[in-house]
Amino acid sequence: MERLQKIISEYGYASRRKAEELIKEGKVSVNGEIVTELGTKANKDDVISIDGIVINKNIKYEYYLLNKPRQVISSALDKEGRTTVVDLIKTDARIYPIGRLDYNTTGLILLTNDGDFANHLMHPSHNIEKTYVAKLEGIITNEDIIKLKKGILIDNRKVDIKRLKVKNKDLEKNTSLVEITIVEGRNHIVKKVFEKLNLPVIRLSRISYGFLNIDNLKSGEYRSLTIKEVKRFYSI
Ligand code: URA
Repeated sequence: MERLQKIISEYGYASRRKAEELIKEGKVSVNGEIVTELGTKANKDDVISIDGIVINKNIKYEYYLLNKPRQVISSALDKEGRTTVVDLIKTDARIYPIGRLDYNTTGLILLTNDGDFANHLMHPSHNIEKTYVAKLEGIITNEDIIKLKKGILIDNRKVDIKRLKVKNKDLEKNTSLVEITIVEGRNHIVKKVFEKLNLPVIRLSRISYGFLNIDNLKSGEYRSLTIKEVKRFYSI
């Protein structure tokens, strides 16, 4: 591990002094996350970008689609030592998840060591649709559906619901099963939407992300994205 400004200067991008300025200005990111603290250390295998451009290009990019099981954390490292999505993928590359799913949410999550790709996918203007299947406590009513279609306000911002399908209502167990498609990626957003309707989410799974789905992957299984799939995301 070396100081970030040292690595940046060794790559010939800028002097150490200049690199320090870039870090303070929030222009430097490591593995897709902006770093502003000067003491930060990194490894040459980490993907270091300045203004969104990767400076250590000689690394091989990897892209994975994982069917995340329950009780797995969506980050590269967990302070409490819990299993992370990265632990489930056999690679030496410094991959990290693109966005996050809650600890108990299952389903489709992408991982990569390509910061540009991650930023591209997470950019709000790209409006990538994500579909979730949610099991709700309570029976969803037509009024609830009307409210959802009008758009639910969460923290003063409307959640744009692209599609909603009621798949099942179990009157005996007092539960409903719905499929909901949204584009945004705010944390816990699906749970917050249904909480507003007094329909707590009991189980949540993401079944698709853009044109990708998890149809052929069992829980904990993963596959690499094809070059075609990576290019297709870039063309969005
Ligand atoms: N919305 C949630 O509430 N949780 C997730 O894990 C993903 C979307």
